[in-house]
Amino acid sequence: MTSSKPRILQIARLPLPALNTELAEAYDVVVLSEQADPAGYLAEHGAGFTAAVTSAAIGLKADVIAALPDLQVVSSFGVGFDALDIAALKARGIPVGYTPGVLNDCVADLAFSLLMDVSRGVAASDRFVRRGDWTRGGYTPQTRVSGKRLGIVGMGRIGQEVAQRASGFRMEIAYNNRRPIEGSPLRHFPSLVEMAKWCDYLVLTVAGGADTRHLIDAEVLEALGAKGFLINVARGTVVDEAALVDALQNRRIAGAGLDVFEKEPGVPEALLALDNVVLTPHTASNTWETRRAMADMVLDNLGAFLQHGAVRIAVPGTQETNGATR
Ligand code: 8YV
Repeated sequence: MTSSKPRILQIARLPLPALNTELAEAYDVVVLSEQADPAGYLAEHGAGFTAAVTSAAIGLKADVIAALPDLQVVSSFGVGFDALDIAALKARGIPVGYTPGVLNDCVADLAFSLLMDVSRGVAASDRFVRRGDWTRGGYTPQTRVSGKRLGIVGMGRIGQEVAQRASGFRMEIAYNNRRPIEGSPLRHFPSLVEMAKWCDYLVLTVAGGADTRHLIDAEVLEALGAKGFLINVARGTVVDEAALVDALQNRRIAGAGLDVFEKEPGVPEALLALDNVVLTPHTASNTWETRRAMADMVLDNLGAFLQHGAVRIAVPGTQETNGATR
């Protein structure tokens, strides 16, 4: 018996279990990654699927898009879309729903947690206490955060939330964008290297993708200098990881707080040995509250398209109308 529910191709399991359940309740879902031979399945059954669900981490590659000739809509869990082949989707006029806005607070919170932690040695001194080292002497002084200079690379919605938090710490705040933001009271650096020289903390909130690949290279790290910290809650690809490892090992920068890596879930072995690095497993948006809000947007975008022919919030350029269903 065929189901009366709309058929959905879910590229892989999503990180919030409830969302997988809710999708399976509302739709006739096939999880591609769980097929014995995903490529073979696509070749045989790809035609007929009109909707696909994925995430910023799982992505949607050109070969999968090409194997879905009837695809009409994509709903993605996440604000980043560098792992989805947006050009291929645009070429076919396929709207892509995504989840901006709802994760700004949590991503900015984690950026600040990493900044605080690596400056004050929270995780490192926790290890110190657990090892029993405190009984042999006190912990080395760390770096003050309040009143320092913070440079934000990519001043978008998340960058603005980072700035908001930094103002509570009476920090001097600047940003590097291609163009200054009209009306912003914050200092704009047209040159990333100049901002890296100026700031104590370089916080990355810029979008991933080809345009920003290895934006943070050896030259920028050199400019950040031996007292500077790098915080990355953007994408691993934004940083030349080999150059970062080299700079950290040789103390050419003071430390780093990293939520993202070039080859997730792979983390360079060299980073694991360093105490001046704080590592989190790409969890900036990973709170119950935010993941729930993201899940609601995934369902909402999909439902809006299936009922009214337009996703509610589309990746810019993938749908003529945005922010409203027809
Ligand atoms: C998520 C993210 O961890 O939204 C993004 O772009 O990278 C994160 O919020 C990711 O979507 C989980 O799949």
